[in-house]
Amino acid sequence: MKGLLLAGGHGTRLRPLTHTGNKHTIPIANKPMVLYAVENLINAGIRDITVILGPMKEGITEAIGSRYPATFHYVEQEPLGLAHAVMKAEPYLDEPFIMHLGDNLLQNGISQFLNRFNETHADAVIGVTPVKDPRQYGVVVLENGRVKKLVEKPRDPPSNLALVGVYVFTPIIHDYTRKLKPSWRGEYEITDVIQMMVDDGKRVEVVHVEGWWKDTGKPEDLLEANQLVLDGLEGTFHHDHATIQGRVQVGEGTVLKENVTIRGPVVVGRNCVIGPNVYIGPYTSIWDGCELSDVEIENSILMKEVKIRGVNARISDSILGNNVVVESKPGIPRVTRLVVGDRSKITLSSP
Ligand code: G1P
Repeated sequence: MKGLLLAGGHGTRLRPLTHTGNKHTIPIANKPMVLYAVENLINAGIRDITVILGPMKEGITEAIGSRYPATFHYVEQEPLGLAHAVMKAEPYLDEPFIMHLGDNLLQNGISQFLNRFNETHADAVIGVTPVKDPRQYGVVVLENGRVKKLVEKPRDPPSNLALVGVYVFTPIIHDYTRKLKPSWRGEYEITDVIQMMVDDGKRVEVVHVEGWWKDTGKPEDLLEANQLVLDGLEGTFHHDHATIQGRVQVGEGTVLKENVTIRGPVVVGRNCVIGPNVYIGPYTSIWDGCELSDVEIENSILMKEVKIRGVNARISDSILGNNVVVESKPGIPRVTRLVVGDRSKITLSSP
């Protein structure tokens, strides 16, 4: 079994964060998103992984680095759809493979998919899970537990079962991608390929994904993914003079100054300076090299080397890109909600 990891795409819905970095390198609980998919593949025993790269690919290859026990092949793709990625990677996909979208996080990994494939020797295994708004996903209609129909992002969804971004295929798929035409939005849709396989009587098995699943298309999805991952955080950090409640992790080289309260689940990276007078509330991730003083923050993602000084309103539900600076000056209202890209600088007034 080989792996195919899709980390291309423009990430337009995550602008401005994706103006300066690839979407898949945005950290969730201080780990670049794409590494959750890499680790799912590694934990499932996959040792040969083809990674599809798009714009700003360097961040991805750097994040993956050389620490995983697998061979990685990197293939560049213009963003023309998921099935197009399969076509580009075809030379590497000469045996059954598991395709994992790089922006999908699954609580329980991907062994469910592999187990079903090994039990059934199907031509494809897909995963589904019920969602509130199926319009933003591929939608699957089942009949007596078998796949009947698949529709990509339907305006009028025929079911509430979303197609999860993990698929197992045998090399038979290449016969179908070759016949595929682009969809109305000009993309080669994997959903259409699976429909062709179903129509042709190929065996497509379905797993109902257990545990949470998150596709991180929009800023609010990033915060939700961060919450879901932090919910599973383990941490027993103690500090002599800071108040630490709940599950908290603090990285090496980080200094906590006077009057610091951290209420978990929270993860703080390496070489940060926290305090004086800082409250960090639940579901906050603060990556390496950040400096926070005189601020309250909760339910937020801070990337590397963010500096926040003296903000008089609690920062909540915010995503701050690398090297962002937030500081206060007199005169601006006290409500703060930020979704800003790398190297932005925001100066807020204090009353
Ligand atoms: C893609 C697929 C869609 C699937 C989704 C899962 O959509 O086209 O069928 O439900 O991934 O994450 P995208 O998120 O790329 O728009």
